[in-house]
Amino acid sequence: MRQKIVAGNWKMHKNAEETEDLLNELIDKIPTDLDQRVIVAPTFVNLSAAADHLEFTPIEVAAQNMHQAEGGAFTGEISAGMLESVGVRIVILGHSERRAYFHETDALLAAKVDTALKHEMEVIFCFGEELKDRHAGQHFNVVENQLKDGLFHLEASAWKNIILAYEPVWAIGTGETASPEQAQEMHEFIRDIIRKNYGNTVAEDVSILYGGSVKPENAAEIFSKPDVDGGLIGGAALKSDDFTKIVLAI
Ligand code: PGA
Repeated sequence: MRQKIVAGNWKMHKNAEETEDLLNELIDKIPTDLDQRVIVAPTFVNLSAAADHLEFTPIEVAAQNMHQAEGGAFTGEISAGMLESVGVRIVILGHSERRAYFHETDALLAAKVDTALKHEMEVIFCFGEELKDRHAGQHFNVVENQLKDGLFHLEASAWKNIILAYEPVWAIGTGETASPEQAQEMHEFIRDIIRKNYGNTVAEDVSILYGGSVKPENAAEIFSKPDVDGGLIGGAALKSDDFTKIVLAI
């Protein structure tokens, strides 16, 4: 079943105290009887506390990244098993900042996806074109290749644990949002290529989130598009009022 989802990617923001404060505000402000899923992704050092804090609330907790190996000599890295051990069952993979600044390739991401799925975690898989790709008319090709190389090795049954997040790089943190029409056009394209590869059920069931400068002012219009199933929110996820408004805009 396709789900409506709003996820907040806190990136490298909020220390321990600020994390607790923001979580308390969200617990107060977000109604408990919503159909849409609400997910927050604090930094690694605050994940354990966040998972404890949110345990008896409907708000779910995700990691922003993880390593593909089960363990070993990988200084500074975090494994799927470690995330599981603190109650984290969702991981964001392939964010454009990971791809750009930490050189994460499609092949590496495919390995990370496999490890996460082996641990029965859910993956929020991010992808999206750069501005130069769009200017060159290559945005559909770029997105298709990112999906093919990162995810299309999976069996159809694995897709129940995949959430897609289309995030055009030119719209992330820039204040420039894709228009609702641009988002819908790409989301429809994404669902079509999944349909071609996996059939109608997988295509109709997968949630495709839009990410890139979603704010309280533009969320409702973007979310109203038939193939947009929610959002991955960066900047606006750091303020409880804004994030709550976006959650309620769906
Ligand atoms: P933004 O970030 O909402 O600040 O543009 C979105 C994201 O990077 O997931």
